[in-house]
Amino acid sequence: MVTMTRGNRTLEEEKVFKDPVHRYIHVRDELIWELIGTKEFQRLRRIRQLGTTFLTFHGAEHTRFNHSLGVYEITRRIIDVFTGRPFWRDDDRLLCLSAALLHDIGHGPFSHSFEKVFDTDHEWWTRKIIVGNTEVNEVLRRIGDDFPQQVADVIEKTHPNKLVVSMISSQIDADRMDYLQRDAFYTGVSYGHFDMERILRVMRPTEEQAVIKYTGMHAVEDYIMSRYQMYWQVYFHPVTRSAEVILSKILQRVKALRNCRYPFKQPPSHFEGFFNEELSLDTYLQLDESVILYYFHMWEEEEDAILKDLCGRFMNRRLFKYVEFDQHFVMNEWLRLQELFQKAGKDPDYYLVIDSSSDLPYDFYRPGEEEERIPIHLLMPDNKLRELSRESDIVEAISGKKRTDHKLYYPAEWLDTPGHEQEKQQIKDILHAHPGKIETEF
Ligand code: NI
Repeated sequence: MVTMTRGNRTLEEEKVFKDPVHRYIHVRDELIWELIGTKEFQRLRRIRQLGTTFLTFHGAEHTRFNHSLGVYEITRRIIDVFTGRPFWRDDDRLLCLSAALLHDIGHGPFSHSFEKVFDTDHEWWTRKIIVGNTEVNEVLRRIGDDFPQQVADVIEKTHPNKLVVSMISSQIDADRMDYLQRDAFYTGVSYGHFDMERILRVMRPTEEQAVIKYTGMHAVEDYIMSRYQMYWQVYFHPVTRSAEVILSKILQRVKALRNCRYPFKQPPSHFEGFFNEELSLDTYLQLDESVILYYFHMWEEEEDAILKDLCGRFMNRRLFKYVEFDQHFVMNEWLRLQELFQKAGKDPDYYLVIDSSSDLPYDFYRPGEEEERIPIHLLMPDNKLRELSRESDIVEAISGKKRTDHKLYYPAEWLDTPGHEQEKQQIKDILHAHPGKIETEF
């Protein structure tokens, strides 16, 4: 199956990157060193790992470049533990390391909002970059003609080697172990920490997946809990979501203006491919966060009041406030709010936005459901495998439980400005009638 005809060379001297999370990242293979040097990989330096989170936690400026190196390093350490054990084949080492390094290569700037507004998909771009006409592809092909294809298959979880796939994507994989620790480090929160060294020491290869020796169960429980807390404390932070709402609305406005031939002072040329759905790989790769922020900055000077206002809000962090939007809100009130916004001269399409988040902290395997990641298995003293939630009461308690919340975002400060006072008062009355929390400051 694997035809690695052309060889991989080892570097004369090992290269090391200083990393605040893993201390050092070690590179011995020429292949990995050259992949890091490609322009597609270097581009990840200009895409933040956590999108708009830096507007909430100012430390969160780390990029997908840092994270990708971290995932590579964790995978390298797992391989060190696996080497010489049954089910591990040394021939798969480079495949595994390349997939780890490149697993996020297709991400664009502020991926979440972009994917929503323009209906693109970073996984599709990941494959394009790996098998298409790129520097990454050229480097991978030195190993073998079908090597790029294999790397893409591992990332897409379609590769027949399930062990390798599980190391990059399962419910306990190198990707998650890196981002939890890295995001905790850069945001400065006290959640997100767990004993990775311990987990790595007790990881074992099997034919189907990487498993954990039962003695490591408590370290894994800690990891599951830290993931649970990171989701609600960091990833779904309401202020971060407010910035994301504004970002999406800017993109939506640009799309609408462009479709009605609005005369931009700064035309959205870098976005053209997204509008007409003929986006080339080169154009996609040109769009990074520095480019996006340049446009937002320029659009603060546009004539269109909505675009100008939204861009100013994003650049100067004048975010929307929120109230909980849950079963207490009835349809009538929702329609009434939209009507009042309209009357008072604020377009509800842009200024009254519901945002929903949901997370499933851990799940046993249910094929076909949204979380299809392989569950965690413990290797018991009798050498049998047991799914984690059957053994751990803590994990069982949260297993399969999905938590969802909805928030309603709006420009609170506008409600206190002169003009349309009557409508504004009615809007405030509806919003304040809702339990919870007009808890809006952060
Ligand atoms: Ni990742």
